[in-house]
Amino acid sequence: HQQKQQPLIEAHQAATQLYHHILMNTKLGEVARKYLAERQVSADMIEQFNLGFAPGDQVLQSFFAERKTDYQTLRKTGLFIEDQDGNLKDRFANRLMFPIKNANGAVVGFSGRLLQISDSLPKYLNSPETELFNKRRVLYNYDVARKAARKSQRLLLLEGFMDVISAMQAGIDFGVASMGTSLTEEQIYDLKRVTSNVDICYDGDVPGQKAINRAVSLLEQTTQFNIGVIQIPGGMDPDEYRRKYGAAGLQKIVKTGREPVIKFRLRYLRSQFNLEQETEKIEYAKQATKLIATLDSSVERGVYLKDLATDLDFDQASLQEQCEQDRKRQRTEPRQFNHVVEVSEPLQREQ
Ligand code: GTP
Ligand code: MN
Ligand code: MN
Ligand code: MN
Ligand code: MN
Repeated sequence: HQQKQQPLIEAHQAATQLYHHILMNTKLGEVARKYLAERQVSADMIEQFNLGFAPGDQVLQSFFAERKTDYQTLRKTGLFIEDQDGNLKDRFANRLMFPIKNANGAVVGFSGRLLQISDSLPKYLNSPETELFNKRRVLYNYDVARKAARKSQRLLLLEGFMDVISAMQAGIDFGVASMGTSLTEEQIYDLKRVTSNVDICYDGDVPGQKAINRAVSLLEQTTQFNIGVIQIPGGMDPDEYRRKYGAAGLQKIVKTGREPVIKFRLRYLRSQFNLEQETEKIEYAKQATKLIATLDSSVERGVYLKDLATDLDFDQASLQEQCEQDRKRQRTEPRQFNHVVEVSEPLQREQ
């Protein structure tokens, strides 16, 4: 197995170095160097993440042809597109290249970002599934973050590669990101292997809130976690936030902006209702009470019930009574984790 994968690993290593060399030392790479400078990515981060540039021609194909790399190996890398006659053409063109590493730090795939958003092409293009590259499994920066988490005792779940890099640049080395897909059970097990403290820091926009909600549910269904949510204000993502408020700003929000998951869930739930309407108000109160009932501490339940009563201008004693009933029901149907069942949420934005 390991032996069989060696040529593929070597090809990815070579491609990483080539893309990186083109970015750093060539005229072709200039446009991408400028782009990174504009995005305030430091030279250190470019090196640490081995960023590269795939220019708009056949660089990879001719590079491997010169090295006389075996055709079958090249096909299996997924780095080429094959025409009807079996000719190989570079898959990545005109893209900033992010090497994707496995848990051991070996490059197993790439994601490439367009320097300029276009209507006809995806902003990010990923390697296809290969013997090395399993999108359901891989987490960007996991190889570094799992070691960093020995000290931090926490992992930070981010939405994008640029967020991971931006966090790293601000000294936050325990951030990981999935490949722009919803979290999978495989990834959740890899998180759990490192720590039970997972803080979700997705984009502050509406899709980000939806994604947080989904990630929270998946984490809770899969196994026991201590989950926190870090809400980036102003609809920004963590990278935009760092560019606006500096490394210190991002550090501060990651250090002190963590809220317990119940707070996020209640706010998210609230956003689903039109509270101008009495029936919706009541329905929200019922569902919120059910959520609050899952808290084991009666002090905490009291705090959130009081907030809810004030917010809706409802009688607190009635909410409390409802909450006690909910707890009784929950006790007779104890919580179950689904260790076996596959996560049913479809992957998004597959290419
Ligand atoms: P930047 O625009 O470079 O800052 O990227 P971003 O990470 O902020 O992008 P966005 O919030 O839109 O998306 C988050 C993550 O989803 C990205 O890091 C990618 O992993 C993934 N993603 C975004 N757009 C695409 C796409 O067009 N195709 C695929 N496959 N993934 C995407
Ligand atoms: Mn270098
Ligand atoms: Mn987003
Ligand atoms: Mn984003
Ligand atoms: Mn971004």
